[in-house]
Amino acid sequence: MLPTVPSLADARAFSRRLRAWYRRNARDLPWRNTRDAYRILVSELMLQQTQVSRVLEFYARFLARFPSLASLAAARERQVLAEWRGLGYYARARNLHRLARRVVHEEVHVYEGALPAEPAALRALPGVGAYTAGAVASFAYEQRAALVDTNVARVLHRVFAPHLHPKRARDLKRLWAIAEAVLPRTGRAAWTHNQALMELGALVCTARVKHCARCPVRRVCQSTEDLDRGLR
Ligand code: ADE
Repeated sequence: MLPTVPSLADARAFSRRLRAWYRRNARDLPWRNTRDAYRILVSELMLQQTQVSRVLEFYARFLARFPSLASLAAARERQVLAEWRGLGYYARARNLHRLARRVVHEEVHVYEGALPAEPAALRALPGVGAYTAGAVASFAYEQRAALVDTNVARVLHRVFAPHLHPKRARDLKRLWAIAEAVLPRTGRAAWTHNQALMELGALVCTARVKHCARCPVRRVCQSTEDLDRGLR
């Protein structure tokens, strides 16, 4: 069996190159300029099944209409669904509304009106899976939390574990273990690292094409194509 978890040296080299690339190449997206957990949660839910360009058409308007978790909790479900129209997959909006009501109106003061910062606590909320919990913990609270969605799974699979099958539950678990292993030391660096993983999957290491010639991590990648390894 091939080792799946990278060495510390490989993990460090990977993350350092990835973050340096991100600082030069990242798109300026609105949810990257905030640490408001509610705004980040909304972006992550919208982005789950919808392209960035389409989300951008709805995101600002949704937040203008519902600027806080409290305003969302106070709304009727049909008002929330009306603002979500055009994005589809309405279960996301229904869950978001239920989540807002739970966090804002819970009786035992578990949340005190705010989204929790720990992935495990986030996961207990309606519609929040492992990926979304990691994303809110990392992107809003700068926790040192891993996150794996299909894009991140593809990148980690290609770079570190081409022998795995990301659609298999057991292998997906291994990819989560790799995601944990390659996280940089601080929560702040992990924020950049996680955004950079998403960005690399969106711009360079895409599902359709691997743009290895312009990939910042080709030297540590086990799936590099197009290039003579000696020249990397
Ligand atoms: N898709 C999901 N989360 C994202 C993010 N933070 N930036 C870009 N695309 C994303």
